[in-house]
Amino acid sequence: MANSSTVTETKPGIAPHKETKPMLKIWIDGQLVDEDQAKVSVFDHGLLYGDGVFEGIRVYNHRILKLDSHLKRMYRSCDRIFLKPSYTIEEIEQATRQTVKVNKLKDAYIRMVFTRGFGDLGLDPRKCPRPCHIIIADKIQLYPPELYATGIPVVVAERPRLPIKCLDPSVKSLNYLNNIMAKIEAIEAGVLEAIMLNLDGFVSECTGDNLFMIKDGKIYTPPLSAGLLGGITRQWVIDDIGPDCGYPVTEKNLRIEEVMDADEVFLTGSGAEVIGVNKIDEKVMSEGKTGPITAKLIAEFKRRVAENAPED
Ligand SMILES: Cc1ncc(COP(=O)(O)O)c(C=O)c1O
Repeated sequence: MANSSTVTETKPGIAPHKETKPMLKIWIDGQLVDEDQAKVSVFDHGLLYGDGVFEGIRVYNHRILKLDSHLKRMYRSCDRIFLKPSYTIEEIEQATRQTVKVNKLKDAYIRMVFTRGFGDLGLDPRKCPRPCHIIIADKIQLYPPELYATGIPVVVAERPRLPIKCLDPSVKSLNYLNNIMAKIEAIEAGVLEAIMLNLDGFVSECTGDNLFMIKDGKIYTPPLSAGLLGGITRQWVIDDIGPDCGYPVTEKNLRIEEVMDADEVFLTGSGAEVIGVNKIDEKVMSEGKTGPITAKLIAEFKRRVAENAPED
């Protein structure tokens, strides 16, 4: 694909900096450095093996949405892969705030990455003396606003979601190839997202979002036991946004046929926020647009993040 923006030449392995953008400051292991100086070893096991964890967090009008929940999930993910960060959760919270501030970002997307750190070429994590901690805060490219009115088409991926016993999808690990392979199915079908089923044939989630369906005025979403990431946006919809709009949410295992037969389907995620689904494979959903209840939830989500996004 053609890329019209100008880039500066840099050393091999360093992301070129687009001259059209201000140089970002990246927080890496306690230091704020220019983006063209933010380097990770080629022996880093995050790079060599996807050995690490991450978070994606949005900033709305200087407020870091659900920062506390994201930090807790980050540290839970670390625990689950036996990675011991060198910084406390409070230190990482401060570093996150500092990174957003120093880059003068009002609305932003934060990517927090902890890797196992550098080691040798073998798998053994004990050969990695210290983890590597990275916080990037950058501007976010929003989906075009039309998509929130029209909804998006999705497909059902052939590729099943990883079973919990192999690598629990509730750990937000750097190992996203399972999702990427399903995302390629979506791209090949000309759509943005794919619904993934678990090995028992129940719906788990999408490649980068959680899934909800609405039937007869009630909202349903798969439980964590279906093998999915416990999304922070998902939990906000379950605990607050759904019930406050008059729609309680029930967690239950869903067959794809049930989802296709629903009145409305929507997805949630830090990137996508809340977005309707207007087609699944060849089945047109909610008359080919965002359903009316989904539209209410989207409006409520946008109102809450615009006014005073909660940081808890
Ligand atoms: C696989 C997957 N499921 C669901 C989500 C949504 O989670 P959250 O709402 O915490 O962004 C994401 C995005 O982080 C994801 O990558």
